[in-house]
Amino acid sequence: MKAAVLREVNKPLSIENISHGKPGPREVLVRTVAAGVCHSDLHFQNGAYPYPLPAVLGHESAGVVEAVGADVRYVKKGDHVITCLSAFCGHCEQCLTGHLSLCQEPELQRDATQEPRLGNKAAPIAQFLNLSSFAEYMLVHEHTIAKIRPDMPLDRAALIGCGVTTGVGAVIHTAKVEPGATVAVIGCGGVGLSAINGAAIAGASRIIAVDMVPAKLDLARKFGATDTVNAKDVDAIEAVREMTSGGVHYSFEAIGLKKTAEQAFKMLRRGGTATVIGMIPVGTMVELHGPEFLQERRMQGSNMGSNRFRVDMPRFVEFYLQGRLHLDDLISRRIKLEDVNDGLNALYTGEVARSVIMFE
Ligand SMILES: NC(=O)c1ccc[n+]([C@@H]2O[C@H](COP(=O)([O-])OP(=O)(O)OC[C@H]3O[C@@H](n4cnc5c(N)ncnc54)[C@H](O)[C@@H]3O)[C@@H](O)[C@H]2O)c1
Ligand SMILES: [Zn+2]
Ligand SMILES: [Zn+2]
Repeated sequence: MKAAVLREVNKPLSIENISHGKPGPREVLVRTVAAGVCHSDLHFQNGAYPYPLPAVLGHESAGVVEAVGADVRYVKKGDHVITCLSAFCGHCEQCLTGHLSLCQEPELQRDATQEPRLGNKAAPIAQFLNLSSFAEYMLVHEHTIAKIRPDMPLDRAALIGCGVTTGVGAVIHTAKVEPGATVAVIGCGGVGLSAINGAAIAGASRIIAVDMVPAKLDLARKFGATDTVNAKDVDAIEAVREMTSGGVHYSFEAIGLKKTAEQAFKMLRRGGTATVIGMIPVGTMVELHGPEFLQERRMQGSNMGSNRFRVDMPRFVEFYLQGRLHLDDLISRRIKLEDVNDGLNALYTGEVARSVIMFE
């Protein structure tokens, strides 16, 4: 099959013909229909987050079940699915206390004694975050897929695989924004726009979008932003504090920078909560002014929107079909697998919401 392989950090992905294994017990072979290019792929491509190489990147996808291995009862050939990197075992402490997205059980991958899912024993290719979506097929554990209704368009479904689940989930699951609360979202990419959309669904009274690209701020209004701040022109902290008479109840950082994570904390009102969604590079420290904790301000992280994706994703599909999740506007362009490097490079300028790779 054709796949985009990262062989060396900071080098373009190469389009190669590689092999994949047959589905073993509890494994599913999915034919990839669409895969979004998320900023997290870029963090691994440019080495901000180290990963074993070579690897096939990609983790935001939807497709059709091609074959199932022994003991798979959840799906059958022909079912439409969205993938999620949050593979859950179902029996560890995190899973049993309802924190499925924090499960770290190694049993969801193949071990070193088995044939790898990608490549072969002599020349293995690492599977990226349980998925490796930049490939015509994905051989995955059955606990990385959510079954969806067949009338949901799969290009838009793919976005639910990461960006939407992460952004909406950060608002409704991690921060639990309540109706009437004020919200600021810093960074209006695929994740930030989804957080804005999530805040609108949650009933936030004011949703302030912060970005440096004017077109992104215009787009943010379509997703539910009531106010916008261009951080290139004004001090984002001052602007948000002024608009909300002292700061927001909830802020979300959806970029992955020290500076904007600190801004998220500083734009809170007393008792407010900042949620960092962005992947801040390994080794980077975030600094907060200690006395501000006396104001009961909170700073927390969010991993994949604290999801329970098999429950969440079909609900998000319904939201889209009802017109409440604006997935059509999230797709800036549809590209081919061969153009994956353009899709990654476009993330440096902030001009696109999402590039989506369409497979034939
Ligand atoms: N926590 C998780 O589970 C999780 C999941 C998915 C993605 N992420 C991370 O979320 C972040 C956002 O992902 P994305 O795909 O939406 O990225 P993106 O590149 O599409 O969007 C980033 C946006 O931030 C804007 N921006 C950049 N610098 C800015 C600044 N200083 N001030 C204001 N705006 C600025 C850009 O113009 C762009 O619109 C990334 O770090 C990604 O790795 C985290
Ligand atoms: Zn992602
Ligand atoms: Zn578990």
